[in-house]
Amino acid sequence: MTMSVQHNPLADLFPAQGDIPPAYALPEPVVQEMILIGGELRPWTGPMRTVISPVYLRRGEALEPCEIGRFPEATVAESLAALNAAVAAYDKGRGTWPTMSIAERIACMQDFTRKMIEKRAEVVRLIMWEIGKNLPDAEKEFDRTIDYIKATINAVRDLDNDNSRFVMVEGTIGQIRRTPLGVVLCMGPFNYPLNETFATLIPALIMGNTVVFKTPRWGVLLFTPLIEAFRTSFPKGVINFVYGQGHKVIPPLLNTGVINVLTLIGSSKVADELKKQHPKVNRLRAVLGLDAKNAAIVLPDADLDLAVRECLSGALSFNGQRCTALKMLLVHSSIVDEFLQRFVTALGKLGRGMPWDKGAALTPLPDIGKAQHMHDLVEDALALGARIVNAEGGASCATFFEPAVVYPVKEGMRLYREEQFGPVVPVTPFDTIETALDYVISSEYGQQVSLFSVNPDVIAELVDPLVNQVCRVNLNCQCQRGPDVFPFTGRKDSAEGTLSVTDALRSFSIRSMIAAKQTDDSKKLLDDIVLNHKSKFINTRFVF
Ligand code: G3H
Repeated sequence: MTMSVQHNPLADLFPAQGDIPPAYALPEPVVQEMILIGGELRPWTGPMRTVISPVYLRRGEALEPCEIGRFPEATVAESLAALNAAVAAYDKGRGTWPTMSIAERIACMQDFTRKMIEKRAEVVRLIMWEIGKNLPDAEKEFDRTIDYIKATINAVRDLDNDNSRFVMVEGTIGQIRRTPLGVVLCMGPFNYPLNETFATLIPALIMGNTVVFKTPRWGVLLFTPLIEAFRTSFPKGVINFVYGQGHKVIPPLLNTGVINVLTLIGSSKVADELKKQHPKVNRLRAVLGLDAKNAAIVLPDADLDLAVRECLSGALSFNGQRCTALKMLLVHSSIVDEFLQRFVTALGKLGRGMPWDKGAALTPLPDIGKAQHMHDLVEDALALGARIVNAEGGASCATFFEPAVVYPVKEGMRLYREEQFGPVVPVTPFDTIETALDYVISSEYGQQVSLFSVNPDVIAELVDPLVNQVCRVNLNCQCQRGPDVFPFTGRKDSAEGTLSVTDALRSFSIRSMIAAKQTDDSKKLLDDIVLNHKSKFINTRFVF
């Protein structure tokens, strides 16, 4: 919908058609008219969903939505076809992919990675246009994903080599390896559509599972340049795409009872609902990254410049749309005024603009409804006695929302407990450490927390109770997921299972073993199998 933006200074942030640097312009809309199912690109002739970019285009005194592509508004029939293809490719564990050696699977993954790297510029451009992520972060998302794939390949190689031997215990010879679980339903989030999706998809694939992949709500077209690489690097049916509205096309997949793993980075509400759709929940493994309301606790003896810097970046990187974002700042009453003043000054200096604009830290939000959601949260707090501390906070224009620093946020306001997932920064004062601790303890979420103090006694006093409430306590730095070799998980409604390069390999596999009595006959039998390379499982090969 075209909107008049007369007298709204924020409208100047949006470009006219001619202002877009040629290197980042989209030459033409990306039209995804095929669905990758069972190794084939099946033509789709049904209804298409139009993708509108967060970047609106300025034309005179108006902003116009910019259509950047279309993808299939597919139905349950196509999602079931994708599932059937994954089931067929797994073939009850006897398919080409689940029975391949690790070395062969690594070769496929390396082939995919090579092809993916060739598409870097296209994918990065689409990340900017589809979800409004700025250029450095979009590039980082791509490069971090490539690093993640390479680290996964190394980890799976180490894992397999560690298991390439027999163990002998109490008269029993065993060989234990990790084996696939079956068919994985993979659902990624819009905020890291490539990286977080691949953080589950890649380990799921390399462990020998077959995958049904539902594209995120926003961030669909960026997979188009990678589809050919998926199709040609893996055996038929190992990866199958599902498009369409999640609430329609996903529950029927779980109803079939043939999905073995649900992996979703999204909301706990959706995860709860989906798990219940499986007729035998005990057969469904769930690997979930869910909601969070990570708090920063800023103590009286904090290095205030450092705390402000970290809290600002922690709260507002990618406009606050990170599950690890700092979504509540608890600041000691003795320093809260000074903190707010410095925070607001630093916020004022952040660059605003389009994703490719140099220095743009704050960019448009992926959906026109998102700014309204931010307004609603702020209005609720204002009605209950809070105020916006920064002069321009809460102003908006189309998809751009000027971050609002809201103070003092109290119990009873939506912002106190709700995950805002956007550019609103709630701040609340506290007098005693117990009050700050209580906030974390009584939360429905348990992902991470950040502590700011230079006093070892204070830090120690807080760390001990907090490590039993969350899964990472960050000292004098913001919350974050990386480095990717660290365990990434959460308590309560924040996660199920653990993701890190090595943990993910475990999450998408199960140990299986052979066992035999430690006798000469067993030794002869196993020797014959190993020396003549008769089994992919029973072997002592070293993967380089
Ligand atoms: O959206 C949640 C992401 O896992 C956060 O990752 O801390 O690397 O931004 P990050």
